[in-house]
Amino acid sequence: RTTRSWADVDAHLERSIVRPDESFAEVQRRAQEASMPGIEVSAGTGKLLGLLAEISGARRVLEVGTLAGFSTLWMARAVGGDGAVVTCEAEPAHADVARTNLDAAGVGGRVDIRVGAAEQTLEQLVEEHRGGDGAAFDLVFLDADKAGNPRYLQLALQMARPGTVIVGDNVVRDGAVLDADSSDPDIRGIRQFLQDQGEDPRLEATAVQTVGAKGWDGFSLAVVREPAS
Ligand code: DHB
Ligand code: MG
Repeated sequence: RTTRSWADVDAHLERSIVRPDESFAEVQRRAQEASMPGIEVSAGTGKLLGLLAEISGARRVLEVGTLAGFSTLWMARAVGGDGAVVTCEAEPAHADVARTNLDAAGVGGRVDIRVGAAEQTLEQLVEEHRGGDGAAFDLVFLDADKAGNPRYLQLALQMARPGTVIVGDNVVRDGAVLDADSSDPDIRGIRQFLQDQGEDPRLEATAVQTVGAKGWDGFSLAVVREPAS
């Protein structure tokens, strides 16, 4: 019988159930044209992010790692016309492509792209939201350098409320998450990120392994708890 691959199944699921519209193909086309790395989430994962936003009633989303704006577009669609996405991108050329993509897809007005190192941008956002009433973000998606994730999580938690959803991409990396004495800063980062979520009394968290066009990986999913009384 024919060989069946994870990538083939991803393609089938994309056609049969996920059904991204042309805007998403345009995002990927412009990313390729700009020779950007093809490491965006799969359409299935992008739509999962959009559905999580919808299910949780998110209006304000924080993304770390914009790239060409593929996951950004899924979440920007999901928050609706009165919602907003703030997305952080370290590479100005990537942010330019994302801006073009999100404007072309008709959601540019609800997406704020912040260019710069994520840690500095997040510290800036914490400052901006200090003293504001209520939490800054309902949903957080961490998908930039994995070495920074422990710090990004702590900063995101300063802008969260009970019920805020936190998703982290790439927490398995072909099983490299098992390498306890890895010297790779990204592997050390995801190990710490998982441990921090597991131990933090403010969070209820899980992680799910995935296979697909992007190989063997996984994501973490957490919700911020009500403080113990
Ligand atoms: C890489 C980063 C990602 O966010 C991803 O989803 C896949 C790969 C990387 O840096 O190699
Ligand atoms: Mg990723």
